[in-house]
Order: sequence, then C-alpha cells, then structure tokens
Amino acid sequence: MLKTVTLYVFIQAILQFVFTDGACTMPKDFQNSDWLDNIRGNITFTTWKMSGWGFKSVVGTVIDEWEIVDNVNFESKGYLALRSLTTFKEQNKTWYSYVCLNFTKVTDFSYMYYQVNEPEPLAGGDRIKVFERDNLTSFTDICNTSIVIPQQEFSVMVRKDNEIDKIRTRCPDQLLRKFDYRYYTSDHTLSCTQTGNLWDVCTDKTMMKFNYTACNKTMAFSNKGEAWCIASIRVNADTYTMVYNPDDVVDDNNTFRFTCIAIAVDSIEATMSPQFCGVNQTSYSLRTDTTGKKVGIQLTNRILASTGSAAQKEEQTVDVKAIAIGVTVSVAVIAITIAVIVVVIKKTRRTFR
Ligand SMILES: *[C@@H]1O[C@H](CO)[C@@H](O)[C@H](O)[C@H]1NC(C)=O
Ligand SMILES: *[C@@H]1O[C@H](CO)[C@@H](O)[C@H](O)[C@H]1NC(C)=O
Ligand SMILES: *[C@@H]1O[C@H](CO)[C@@H](O)[C@H](O)[C@H]1NC(C)=O
Ligand SMILES: *[C@@H]1O[C@H](CO)[C@@H](O)[C@H](O)[C@H]1NC(C)=O
Ligand SMILES: *[C@@H]1O[C@H](CO)[C@@H](O)[C@H](O)[C@H]1NC(C)=O
Ligand SMILES: *[C@@H]1O[C@H](CO)[C@@H](O)[C@H](O)[C@H]1NC(C)=O
Ligand SMILES: *[C@@H]1O[C@H](CO)[C@@H](O)[C@H](O)[C@H]1NC(C)=O
Ligand SMILES: *[C@@H]1O[C@H](CO)[C@@H](O)[C@H](O)[C@H]1NC(C)=O
Ligand SMILES: *[C@@H]1O[C@H](CO)[C@@H](O)[C@H](O)[C@H]1NC(C)=O
Repeated sequence: MLKTVTLYVFIQAILQFVFTDGACTMPKDFQNSDWLDNIRGNITFTTWKMSGWGFKSVVGTVIDEWEIVDNVNFESKGYLALRSLTTFKEQNKTWYSYVCLNFTKVTDFSYMYYQVNEPEPLAGGDRIKVFERDNLTSFTDICNTSIVIPQQEFSVMVRKDNEIDKIRTRCPDQLLRKFDYRYYTSDHTLSCTQTGNLWDVCTDKTMMKFNYTACNKTMAFSNKGEAWCIASIRVNADTYTMVYNPDDVVDDNNTFRFTCIAIAVDSIEATMSPQFCGVNQTSYSLRTDTTGKKVGIQLTNRILASTGSAAQKEEQTVDVKAIAIGVTVSVAVIAITIAVIVVVIKKTRRTFR
C-alpha cells in the first residue's frame, strides 16, 4: 500500500515537471474555473486559456480568447501576460492583442487586478497592447511596470462555482454606519428628501441593506436593496469600494451586478457608479461615459450610528467587567477542550493497541 502511494506521488511529480516546467500554464487558482468580472462578465479559464474576457477593437471585432504566455511573476508579484488567439484587421494590417494583468488575491474566491498597458486607440482606448506579430512572449515584451495606472481603475473577479457569499469582506470604516440619505440622480434631481431612507452597514459589517419603504429609488443598483463589500482602496481622501448585488437577475440598465461606491473620509458625501469606479469619480462628483454624460447617483448622508475601529475602541474601554468575564469563560473553555482531547487521545491509543 505504502509503495503504491509513493509511486503515485513520484509519477505525479514527474508529470508536473514535464507539463508545467517550461510550458506556460494558468495559476492553480484559475485553472478550470468560472469567474464573474465586473466589466468583462463571465470568464472561463482552462489550464492555458482565458475565454470571455473581451474587448472591441476600433473596427468592431470582438477579441475574447487568450492564451497565457508568461506566468513567472505571478507567484511573487501577481502578473500574468496573455496573447489573443484571434486577430483583427485594420488598414490592411493584422493585429495581435496582448494584455498584462496584475492580480491581488482578496479572498479564496476573489481577486482584484489592474491592466498594466497603455490605453490603445486601436483597442477602443482599452489598456491593451497591439502588435503585428505573435512573437511577443516575455514579461518585458508585454508588461511595462513603469506605467502609472490610476488606482481607481481596479477590476474585480469573483469565482462562480463556490458558495458565492464567501466573497464578502468587511466594509471599510467610512461605510460602517447607519445612514439616512438624500438621493440625487445623474442630472442632479433630488429625491428621498423625507427622513427614514435607511442605509445600514452596521448590522452586518460585510454588507449593506437599504430600506426602500420611505423612498423607492434603487441604491447600489439593487432591487433587493442589498450589496456586499468585495474589495476597497483608498485614494487621497476618498475610499472606493466595489460591491456585489445579489439580485436574482440584473438588466445592466437599471440594475447591475457590481457597483463602485466612493465615500468621503467624513462619510457624508458619496457616489455610486455602475460596474466600475471611474478615474474621475470622487465622493462628490460622478464619472462621465464616452459621450460625456454623467453616470451614477450621488448621495448626501446623515449619520445615525457608527461602528468601525473608532467605535470599537470605545466599546473596549467601556465594559471592563464584561471583558473579565469573557476571559474567564474563554480560559475555562480552553481547559475543558484540552481535557477532552487528552481523554480522546488516551482512548484512541487503547483501541489501537
Ligand atoms: C453568465 O453566466 C450566467 C450563468 O452562470 C448566465 O445566467 C448569464 O446570462 C451569463 N452572462 C452573460 C453576460 O453571458
Ligand atoms: C489595402 O490594400 C488594398 C490592396 O492592396 C489597397 O488598394 C488599399 O488602398 C489598402 N488600404 C489601406 C487603407 O492601406
Ligand atoms: C518578432 O518578429 C519580427 C519580424 O520577424 C522581428 O523583427 C522582431 O524582433 C521579433 N520580436 C521579438 C520580440 O522576437
Ligand atoms: C501591481 O499591483 C501591486 C499590488 O496591488 C501594486 O503595488 C503595483 O504597483 C502594481 N503594479 C503596477 C505596474 O501597477
Ligand atoms: C514604459 O512606460 C514608460 C512610462 O509610460 C515609458 O516612458 C516607456 O517608454 C515604456 N517602455 C516601453 C518599453 O514601452
Ligand atoms: C423598512 O422601514 C419600514 C418603515 O420604517 C418598516 O416598517 C420596515 O419593517 C422596514 N423593513 C425592513 C426590511 O427592515
Ligand atoms: C417608485 O414610486 C413611484 C411613485 O409611487 C412609482 O411611480 C415608481 O414606479 C416606483 N419605482 C419603483 C422602482 O418601484
Ligand atoms: C433602460 O431603462 C430606462 C428606464 O427604466 C428605459 O426607459 C430604457 O428603455 C431602458 N433601456 C434599455 C436598453 O433597456
Ligand atoms: C477625466 O477628467 C480629465 C480632466 O477633466 C479628462 O481629461 C479625462 O478625459 C477624464 N477621463 C475620463 C475617463 O472621463
């Protein structure tokens, strides 16, 4: 039995060496899995290919099939370099597309990433590198790490074949409040002027709930009135949080799966932008689309309650007695656990003798 196992492990190691050393494969986390991307939608990885991650070239060709060409800097720095499997033609020239993605793992089921290429006119302004040949294969050919990417441009990718609510993370401190809000549409029309428009990120610190009873305008583009915190970054005075809407269906018009919330340090001003954070989105101004039209909603908040690190510190100093009781109980629980483990070990030993 032991010999079979050893042989199996040995063969596995050889196979691994033969097939992954030299040949370029996707990171283990990505292989043979389905993900949902905030901009690209459904994407699928095999051991070597990424499908569904699309952009439209300037001549309208959709490029959405990619093969991995470099992964050496993934483990240490999060970089993957990919090449398109199809080409597009423009002015009698044939173009291959390349993209350099810089990933950061957020949870076991979610990543955030940046596209580390300059905006390319032939790719409709997307951060894609185009080249007339398919012979770019090295990290330095495809990735230019000197490029400065605005931090707001982060994308997120959540894994689909897992319990989806494992992608929830603690919302940033600026959001850990109970708010009453005033709501402005993209053309700055005010509604929800009465009180009782509840935005609650206190009850569960990984998600927000909205109560539409007083004002029925959708928040975070969610019909259900719920949004989960996925990832967030701080840029200057604003915190940008990508949230996920668990509605059964979204129409990508009035409701969206992902929303970027920018909120000010004092938590008063906030904006919500569908799908992604705009470079020009701040807590007090909306991003514009390609036609120059403002996109999203704007909010002014009244804070009803707070949690987060500041509030937690207060709680800690307040109830010394409760903490003392807590510690005593914990010590007792640990002692009992150890006792139980000792007894079980002794019993197991006896049975095996
Ligand atoms: C993505 O996949 C889901 C099924 O997992 C499907 O319901 C949805 O329509 C797909 N979205 C797009 C844009 O293809
Ligand atoms: C493309 O090639 C054709 C035939 O070689 C030529 O007539 C045409 O002017 C070319 N177009 C451009 C935009 O270069
Ligand atoms: C790709 O091929 C072209 C033409 O053969 C050559 O000039 C160029 O140096 C090659 N580039 C790389 C990175 O190998
Ligand atoms: C890649 O991501 C890391 C972590 O998010 C970041 O520190 C680094 O600046 C990024 N590189 C580029 C070129 O944007
Ligand atoms: C990399 O990007 C920097 C900053 O945009 C630029 O100055 C440099 O020429 C680029 N390098 C290459 C090889 O394209
Ligand atoms: C929403 O608010 C109304 C009015 O204050 C209240 O009756 C209702 O229970 C609330 N709904 C939820 C789901 O909390
Ligand atoms: C919100 O209420 C208004 C006025 O009652 C109604 O016309 C509108 O259809 C409602 N919108 C939604 C999304 O329920
Ligand atoms: C988007 O929603 C608006 C308002 O509900 C509606 O008038 C418009 O027709 C919708 N657009 C599409 C493309 O469904
Ligand atoms: C952001 O604002 C700057 C300055 O107003 C403008 O030049 C740029 O085009 C805007 N970018 C986007 C993506 O809207």
